[in-house]
Amino acid sequence: MKIAMVGSGYVGLVSGVCFADFGHEVVCIDKDPGKIERLRAGVMPIYEPGLADLVRRNTVSGRLSFTTDLAEGIAGASAIFIAVGTPSRRGDGHADLSFVYAVAEEIGQSLKNPAVIVTKSTVPVGTGDEVERILAESPIDVRFAVASNPEFLREGAAIDDFKRPDRIVIGSDDEWARSILAEVYRPLFLNRAPILFTARRSAEMIKYAANAFLAVKITFINEIADLCEKVGGDVQDVARGIGLDNRIGPKFLHAGPGYGGSCFPKDTLALLKTGEDHDTPLRIVEAVVKVNDTRKRAMGRKVIEALGESPRGKRVAMLGLTFKPNTDDMRDAPSIAIAQALSDAGVHVSAFDPEGMAGAKLLMPEVEMTTSVYEAIEGADAVVIVTEWDAFRALDFQRIKRIANAPVLVDLRNIYRPDEVRAAGFAYTGVGR
Ligand SMILES: NC(=O)c1ccc[n+]([C@@H]2O[C@H](COP(=O)([O-])OP(=O)(O)OC[C@H]3O[C@@H](n4cnc5c(N)ncnc54)[C@H](O)[C@@H]3O)[C@@H](O)[C@H]2O)c1
Repeated sequence: MKIAMVGSGYVGLVSGVCFADFGHEVVCIDKDPGKIERLRAGVMPIYEPGLADLVRRNTVSGRLSFTTDLAEGIAGASAIFIAVGTPSRRGDGHADLSFVYAVAEEIGQSLKNPAVIVTKSTVPVGTGDEVERILAESPIDVRFAVASNPEFLREGAAIDDFKRPDRIVIGSDDEWARSILAEVYRPLFLNRAPILFTARRSAEMIKYAANAFLAVKITFINEIADLCEKVGGDVQDVARGIGLDNRIGPKFLHAGPGYGGSCFPKDTLALLKTGEDHDTPLRIVEAVVKVNDTRKRAMGRKVIEALGESPRGKRVAMLGLTFKPNTDDMRDAPSIAIAQALSDAGVHVSAFDPEGMAGAKLLMPEVEMTTSVYEAIEGADAVVIVTEWDAFRALDFQRIKRIANAPVLVDLRNIYRPDEVRAAGFAYTGVGR
């Protein structure tokens, strides 16, 4: 089957190349000519483990190609996915749907064969209706349907998530659209990935409800961590103790600096807006957004406290800047607010991240970017682990003692055992322990 993927970012590129790997013929379309040029040359515009190899393999086989020309890309495609960004709209927190609607308009001007148009972008409930209206009012004179197929992949493990999903959600009441999408996902079907057919609006809700629920879980354990610090408990033990309960489950119970990234912050805000628009306030999600926002700066204060008296003029080495490991994505990363809080207190920050530095440089000009872990640590009064990259899991504490100004470790991801770090002669601060 021929598939067109409009938008070749984190989601579009990964989904497109995985569909090609299933054996479909896929054209990835993007309006950014630089991105398409790089992809054609085999240069990945993002960091995602395994992606470059998979793109190379499927390009060579002739199943995967790239273009900036939407009309050419969608010609002959039975399924056209929309995977463009839906960032927060400046000022009010609603999802900015202008990119989605622009693509719908363009498809409406150029569709020449029957096709299902599928929103893979995360879009508020009702967006599919609007896409359908745009297409219905366009000069299309072939059969079409609009379906929702939200994406649940996690950056850093995107290919594996796409190929071994917990579930595939397809929102459409149209039997023809359902059968085409069942064909698109048939290889996963055979692997018994549960496929859930729902109405379009339910599929749109599922994506927001899932992200909001995960944000609640993270924020819940973060607040329990704060209480553990006050009453003398270890949140790691508490998380394990509750996570072993099947009704709760162990995932998303890692206390840390608060959630960030390209999805949770904007999706929780957009869900609140949908709630407001329909006179149904979502108070739990409201609280989660507030708690998480204040948490990031609170982490800055935690680091400042670890610096002892008169932090002004001192130096902190931040290890990890991306919102999580194994990605170069800096969108809404907690590191941004932490670095800002440190700068505001007159603390000098040096930093190292294995993949995120290019993006980080633009977002935190006050931070000195270095080329290695130990260069960042040189002369530092405290080392702060902000993102739990594997490269930070076996630090050479004796070397740090020699090159740092003071042996102080602030472990915002709880990747070290406090007793071991203290035994190495360091002052240790974790989260909730
Ligand atoms: N990043 C994730 O982990 C993730 C996971 C699940 C869902 N999502 C959702 O998927 C959607 C895409 O997210 P992303 O992180 O891939 O975004 P992204 O910003 O990385 O990529 C979007 C791409 O769309 C392109 N684009 C915009 N307008 C276009 C147009 N008119 N024609 C062609 N291309 C166009 C942009 O140039 C960009 O390359 C969002 O709605 C997001 O919420 C993201």
